[in-house]
Amino acid sequence: MKSFFNASELKKYICLNSCRMTEKDFISQSFQHKLIGGSVTWEAPSNIALIKYWGKIEPQIPANPSISFTLDSCRTTTTLEFKKMETADNNINFEFYFEGIKKEEFKPKIESFFKRINLYCPFLTDYQFVIKTENSFPHSSGIASSASGMSALALCVMSLEKELDPDLSDEYFNQKASFLARLGSGSACRSIEGEIIEWGKHKNIENSSDLFGIKYPYKIHEAFLNYQDTILLVDKGTKQVSSSIGHNLMVDHAFADSRFEQAHRNMDKLRNIFETGNLKEFMEIVESEALTLHAMMMSSNPYFILMKPNTLEIINKIWTFRQNSGLPVCFTLDAGANVHVLYPEKDVVKVFEFIKNELVAYCENEQYICDQIGEGAKKIEN
Ligand code: PMV
Repeated sequence: MKSFFNASELKKYICLNSCRMTEKDFISQSFQHKLIGGSVTWEAPSNIALIKYWGKIEPQIPANPSISFTLDSCRTTTTLEFKKMETADNNINFEFYFEGIKKEEFKPKIESFFKRINLYCPFLTDYQFVIKTENSFPHSSGIASSASGMSALALCVMSLEKELDPDLSDEYFNQKASFLARLGSGSACRSIEGEIIEWGKHKNIENSSDLFGIKYPYKIHEAFLNYQDTILLVDKGTKQVSSSIGHNLMVDHAFADSRFEQAHRNMDKLRNIFETGNLKEFMEIVESEALTLHAMMMSSNPYFILMKPNTLEIINKIWTFRQNSGLPVCFTLDAGANVHVLYPEKDVVKVFEFIKNELVAYCENEQYICDQIGEGAKKIEN
């Protein structure tokens, strides 16, 4: 252990080790460093929740804890070019390009993200930015790019902060990246590191926080190593109800309290499951969580349905296959019609055969994505 620290290092050391980080601990100091310009690139993954986050209070504080597998192939790559302005104003100036094309329609979301994080990164108003971003998965595939997109951008902002303050520790860097990403899109805070990330205060999970995601700190059985996720693209259209509207509908939801308690209980159960590798119980929790998420949508006021007929066809096929083959294949859903098929790596040949023969026909244009648990975001050296 280092024997002495400067004031800012000490703050970070104490905070990280007592894990009583508050919002204030993420406000950066003013820097003396004169950084004129440069560019940084990060590639960040998507994630799939096993215990779902659905319901929040401002600013993106989750109503219950959630946990996810970080994915590997579904990624967003973002480059942030920055140039110091001669005279800074109070606005954050940027241009935004998606897959090489200037996209004005995406700007408001980024603008409100920048406004939210400016308190924690006041240096942002000193620079002019060009943001260039692309996804590894097809555009409008129904896969939410907000988790990978917001985490990639948050990491770029953190790399700029690190250039201004080279003493930042890796732990603080990742924690603040997750904190910032959360302010862009809640689930994005689970897309910084791998392989299993928990977000949201839970009394039995040490260091868990509502402010950022943490690497799941307990034992994980080898059955979960390289766990597979084949994403079946059932409906590639835009969702009729955005997740922000869905989260807000949990505020006066008749079943909200019991749902939030259930998530806490499921998190406790998962601890033993991760430790022992009990895949039967794992599948029960994961599928129940997916169906509960959609049950919350169907019982909110106003109610809505995001599943499509083919979502249900696929679920039934998975249940029949599981019963006949005895293989541990299960599904989960995010806030849409697509189905994530989850299974251990050792069963990949048989399960993939089943997916190709029986499930792909229910996908729009027979499209699907083969993914698996991943290790988290990567900085790309320019
Ligand atoms: O991060 P948001 O606001 O898009 O919400 C994501 C919510 C779910 O994907 C449905 C669940 C989750 O925990 O990822």
